[in-house]
Amino acid sequence: MKITNICCIGAGYVGGPTMAVIAQKCPHIKVTVVDLNEQRIAKWNDADVENIPVYEPGLSNIVAQSRGKNLFFSTEVDKAIEEAQLIFISVNTPTKTYGSGKGMAADLKYIELCARQIARVSKDNKIVVEKSTLPVRTAEAIKNILDHTGNGVQFQILSNPEFLAEGTAVDDLLNPDRVLIGGDTTPEGQNAIQSLVEVYSNWVPKERILTTNIWSSELSKLTANAFLAQRVSSINALSELCEKTGADVSEVAKAIGMDSRIGSKFLKASVGFGGSCFQKDILNLVYISKSFGLHEVADYWEQVIIMNDHQKRRFAKNIIKTLYNTVSGKKIAFLGWSFKKDTNDTRESAAIYVADDLISEQANIAVFDPKVEEKQILNDLNTLESRTDEKNAKGIQTYNNAYEACSNAHAIAVLTEWDEFKTYDWQKIYDGMLKPAFVFDGRNLLDKNKLEKIGFVYQAIGS
Ligand code: NAD
Ligand code: UDX
Repeated sequence: MKITNICCIGAGYVGGPTMAVIAQKCPHIKVTVVDLNEQRIAKWNDADVENIPVYEPGLSNIVAQSRGKNLFFSTEVDKAIEEAQLIFISVNTPTKTYGSGKGMAADLKYIELCARQIARVSKDNKIVVEKSTLPVRTAEAIKNILDHTGNGVQFQILSNPEFLAEGTAVDDLLNPDRVLIGGDTTPEGQNAIQSLVEVYSNWVPKERILTTNIWSSELSKLTANAFLAQRVSSINALSELCEKTGADVSEVAKAIGMDSRIGSKFLKASVGFGGSCFQKDILNLVYISKSFGLHEVADYWEQVIIMNDHQKRRFAKNIIKTLYNTVSGKKIAFLGWSFKKDTNDTRESAAIYVADDLISEQANIAVFDPKVEEKQILNDLNTLESRTDEKNAKGIQTYNNAYEACSNAHAIAVLTEWDEFKTYDWQKIYDGMLKPAFVFDGRNLLDKNKLEKIGFVYQAIGS
């Protein structure tokens, strides 16, 4: 089937950028991104394209090129489903917060709702594509719902997981290492795969488009995230050993990364990984392994998360210990709140957990992040079981610039590796702080020699 009309359900960090790139590269295809969240859709349609809800370098340009021509954002979900030949499901799949599998399994209620809606609305044959990250064998459940509640039309289910990383989404989408498409081995399944291969072929070289059976595709996505997160936890585990032994984790990372079998990427020690994917997807892998009785497999992967939690807690504990075992009433400036640079996404950011620990010790946290709004920061803390609005109001304040956030502070904690932090006038920041002035660099971002020369007491991770 030659695709000319695509619908994507879910206008989030994946659905928005992915569809914007498909629309730009395939001007012959009408792409409609739909969402239940009216406010989000209104932002995607904002006359000022800089106000789109997802901050990604280069994204607003791409949206501006296609929006209103062949790229549309809408809340009319039924209409978009009905008109489309191919439907991407790109809704959120968070960790369950209730019932069986609480805290571990993926919550598939949004996926099921989409499947039921597609079944109800569709009047002709459609290809349904899992873009969301899903537990292996979810396609079976989707197919069951579509086949048993639909209007007798034929559905083909494909798995096409997304590998973009936030902050580099546009580049990742334009030049993907690979595009993975899994489908049924039947002739109909293979035809559906080919239809999607043709869409991507408009800009992705054929040799980078990998086709597999559907279960391999689903499992590969969970596995890729687990392997990446495992590298971060491995280097973070070593960072603690480096601090005890006089080794320097950056030097160790460079030395091991130059072995071409290991490779240099994803070896940056940090305050801990965040983001909406790593923890959720590993927990999901752990849950699936447990449900098959594979307890050793489950324990192996769970350790990646245990190490990450330890790293975040360790960072907060070290601040308290260094500030003479008390942070009560002390102002501690946070540079950065997002889970990595070049994104306004804060989901599972290490900053949230470090702030929580320090507020519990009665510190006053002063946050500056170039892209995250105050409302979001308070919301992040409020979702923690340990927090209430009343407590937060006392413990945290946000600032519009870093110099004010750091003024009269006892210490600075660098939580996100925003490039602009490196360009600040650090002498001016030092002059405005209480002495001794501490910097706890959770991203090993700043120049140790320069800061120590100014007079800061500087501590990096892993040295
Ligand atoms: P998100 O929360 O930013 O966006 C999901 C959107 O889906 C929300 O706007 C929500 O309102 C909407 N939605 C939920 N149910 C709906 C329904 N029934 N009808 C219409 N809209 C509905 O999530 P995201 O970060 O874009 O992630 C989406 C999926 O992609 C997840 O499964 C995630 O694991 C996966 N993924 C995310 C990333 C990433 O970097 N964020 C990368 C690869 C894969
Ligand atoms: C990840 C995967 O990289 C991507 O392929 C997948 O599609 C979604 O999940 P994302 O979570 O957006 O992407 O960002 P990523 O660059 O992987 O960073 C995740 C976290 O790990 C961040 O908090 C980052 O700061 C941290 N990290 C990463 C480190 O601490 N050290 C590193 O060396 C690399």
